[in-house]
Amino acid sequence: MSDRTDFFVIKALEDGVNVIGLTRGSDTRFHHSEKLDKNEVMIAQFTEHTSAVKVRGKAKIQTSHGEMTNE
Ligand code: TRP
Repeated sequence: MSDRTDFFVIKALEDGVNVIGLTRGSDTRFHHSEKLDKNEVMIAQFTEHTSAVKVRGKAKIQTSHGEMTNE
């Protein structure tokens, strides 16, 4: 399943960026929150448990769909 094997990269552009994982399936809820400080990078995949990710705070996000900054 390519949607679960692709990696995405999140680089924090400020302190305290939150990367929040949301559950897969009929019950959509937060299950994990990771806090990144400025210039920290997180490399992650979508998984059996995680189908969506919410990024709170300024970050550069790279996916197979392109790159964006949420400023
Ligand atoms: N244990 C979680 C999982 O396997 C970890 C995880 C994977 C995650 N991708 C993520 C957490 C993205 C936050 C954001 O699903």
